[in-house]
Amino acid sequence: MGQYPHHLHMDHFEYRSGLLHCEGLDLESIASRCGTPSYIYSSRTALDHLKRIREAFVEIDPLICFSIKSCSNLAICRLLATAGSGMDVVSGGELFRALAAGCEAAKIVYAGVGKTEPEIEQALRAGIALLNIESEEEFVAVASVAKRLGIGCACALRVNPDVDPHTHRYTTTGKRESKFGVDIERAKSFFARFGKDPLCRLEGLHLHIGSPVGTTEPYAIGVRKALELCDSLAAEGHLIKWLDIGGGFAADYETGNSPCAADYAAVIVPLLRERVRQGLRVVLEPGRSIIANAGVLLTRVLYRKQSGDKCFAICDAGMNTLLRPSHYEAFHFAWPVRPAGGMVPPMRSKTINLPNLERVDVVGPLCETGDFLALDRRLPPMKQGDLLAIFAAGAYGMSMASRYNSVPLPAEVLVHENELRIIRTRETNEDLVRHESLEGLLV
Ligand code: LLP
Repeated sequence: MGQYPHHLHMDHFEYRSGLLHCEGLDLESIASRCGTPSYIYSSRTALDHLKRIREAFVEIDPLICFSIKSCSNLAICRLLATAGSGMDVVSGGELFRALAAGCEAAKIVYAGVGKTEPEIEQALRAGIALLNIESEEEFVAVASVAKRLGIGCACALRVNPDVDPHTHRYTTTGKRESKFGVDIERAKSFFARFGKDPLCRLEGLHLHIGSPVGTTEPYAIGVRKALELCDSLAAEGHLIKWLDIGGGFAADYETGNSPCAADYAAVIVPLLRERVRQGLRVVLEPGRSIIANAGVLLTRVLYRKQSGDKCFAICDAGMNTLLRPSHYEAFHFAWPVRPAGGMVPPMRSKTINLPNLERVDVVGPLCETGDFLALDRRLPPMKQGDLLAIFAAGAYGMSMASRYNSVPLPAEVLVHENELRIIRTRETNEDLVRHESLEGLLV
């Protein structure tokens, strides 16, 4: 158990009588109805996490914008929008999804370093809450589209606070050398140059330091820097109405190993309480902390193969289905759906102490050595055809899946009030070639 014991009930995936259940449904019957590989989501878990964040931050009443890059399925977005969540989007495609899912435009914030002109136009026409701007050239582009359309928008400048979130280098976003935002020192001249545009109203600051951020301190540092900047901007006549502190709250990948919403709130709320009383509006952009623990990847062991003292479990899901282990060396707990000998895991962690476990590499079917889901794990003995669950896979699982090796994308399934709903049908081989043409289209 890690240092955060209040994480005991982070999701509604649990073993009952030796069989893994999602809420009231067992994953064997889900597999027989929906096939494998599939992403299985628990709606109750996602809603619980949204509620935990809302309750932890209630004193500063933030606009919570689910970061839909983490899981952009329409039904998941709809579930969260219906529960009152806003959305953080980073492309015209995500904006389209957020609106299609029924999210009010007034609860949508839009970030991203490379917005195209059509995307900017789409955002302005939709009337979103806040457009986060990441460079001088982007501001000029937004201002000119706004002028052409005669539509204004509240904008936030994304600043780079130069804070180390101590996470994987690929997902460190708020250090000086990263491509995001503008240096915090340059913010003042940015406001001096653009702060009086009548349509493109520069009235917010945005930061996102990285993800997952496994400690709370980097938020305190980042927010303090942003508040100092707010004060010096105010002294120059620029009133900051919005502070968007981004996402990056951790998920519970290993039982009790990372802070939860209340831990982050404990350092963030005291810094912002007074400002909010004076009218500042805070935005949060949580992605994985809402949806990671709400999803498992359900896969079937196709073959087993012995090599020296090591056993490979070759599954029907691989890096094409869940890229995180291979791309970030991310840890996802894996365990059979019906473990041999009733060996239910006492917790989800890198080291499990139970007798009679076997050393296994859980790998996918693709033609790459980097195609793995879990390396060097101790697992209960598995046989061909067994089902395996890869936990905490709801975030950046399906949304980063690819059709590499021409394997169709998996199905996504939502367990909602003990009913099973297919929220994305499994792709077919025809889907793979739908946009291709044998002859090529002459242009
Ligand atoms: N806001 C902004 C501006 C972001 O760039 C991100 C994530 C979020 C919010 C949401 O972060 P979250 O709360 O989900 O940690 N593919 C990687 C993660 C990349 C995150 C990119 N930005 C992974 O699988 O871990």
